[in-house]
Amino acid sequence: MKKIVTILGARPQFVKAAVLSRVIQKYNEIEEVIIHTGQHYDQNMSDIFFEEMQIPKPKYNLQINGLRHGAMTGQMLEKIEEILVEEKPDIVVIYGDTNSTLAGALAAKKLHIKVVHIEAGLRSFNMKMPEEINRIMTDRISDLLLCPTDAAVENLKNEGFENMDVIFEKSGDIMKDAVEYYSTLSEEKSSVVEDLDLEKGNFVLATIHRQENTDDIEKLKEIFKSLEEINSKCEVVIPLHPRTKKILAEHDLMFQMTAIEPVGYFDMLELLKNCKMVLTDSGGLQKEAFFNQKPCIIAREETEWTELVSNGFAKLVGSDLEKILTAFYDFSEENLDFSMNLFGENVGETIYQSILKL
Ligand code: UD1
Repeated sequence: MKKIVTILGARPQFVKAAVLSRVIQKYNEIEEVIIHTGQHYDQNMSDIFFEEMQIPKPKYNLQINGLRHGAMTGQMLEKIEEILVEEKPDIVVIYGDTNSTLAGALAAKKLHIKVVHIEAGLRSFNMKMPEEINRIMTDRISDLLLCPTDAAVENLKNEGFENMDVIFEKSGDIMKDAVEYYSTLSEEKSSVVEDLDLEKGNFVLATIHRQENTDDIEKLKEIFKSLEEINSKCEVVIPLHPRTKKILAEHDLMFQMTAIEPVGYFDMLELLKNCKMVLTDSGGLQKEAFFNQKPCIIAREETEWTELVSNGFAKLVGSDLEKILTAFYDFSEENLDFSMNLFGENVGETIYQSILKL
């Protein structure tokens, strides 16, 4: 029986890993051991995802969090290496672009364990983003690179991956499976729309947490001013990431809108289904908006999901108040057709089969 070690640590990774773990359990021909680095640790940033999505309990929780990038990644590397030496897996699976991703890839590669990177090939071409550095480094040392989109495959070709002894292919986007599978459950289990007394189809769902926005207080203020302005026309609901909440509090900043604690996956799906549009700087939420047929305003200067912008489903506005408001008004008028298939089908199964062949 093949043995896989899955390494995860941050919220979006729980969502992605849930899909593959379910397929692994269905076939029962691979043993999966999960390491949670502890990067995200609050009940509503971590535990709730394991409960709702029925992700197998991690065998290890490293409880490494709240540190600067170097210390965080370094401590993870050290602990993960120890565990991999003990567990001796055939394969290590990592997701996305966080510090947990990079630490996992590096530890495995140096022990000559095969590395599978799910969500490979994405690029923002902004080397100031910690996530971009993590992506590039992780891709370079992975053995099987599973790309969510055609653009991601193209990025790897442009970087010369065809000349390397690795496999890279389009698998589709694993988050699509998560939305499809958990949507029926969320309808039964979540009452967030009623609890917040939201008018269905008439509120904006927002999330802001990216370091490039939170670390520049002027940018952050501008984004929140824009949200406040939108809120005067159409209610804005914003589950606040702990980093954003902390920075707003430190600067004594308060804005008029519905700010709530981070929500679990079921609540998020229901908010997505019932909102009018999404405004975010998150990577995952841009696609989740698309899967739920909602337009998305991206509060960043660039995106890894270029196909959303080029096909008119999302608008890139940075932190500029005028641009944000214009995007809001434009999307309020538009009637978009979301039937385009940009992110593949049956992605969990496809990824599973590729891993089996490795
Ligand atoms: C990380 C990822 C980012 C991903 C995001 C999803 C990196 C470099 N970035 O950013 O790619 O989009 O996760 O949310 O890995 N905190 C809490 N409670 C928690 C989690 C975090 O209070 O449960 C605090 C941390 O202590 C820290 C801050 O929030 O002060 C930010 O957390 P951190 O893990 O540094 O990165 P994220 O911004 O979440």
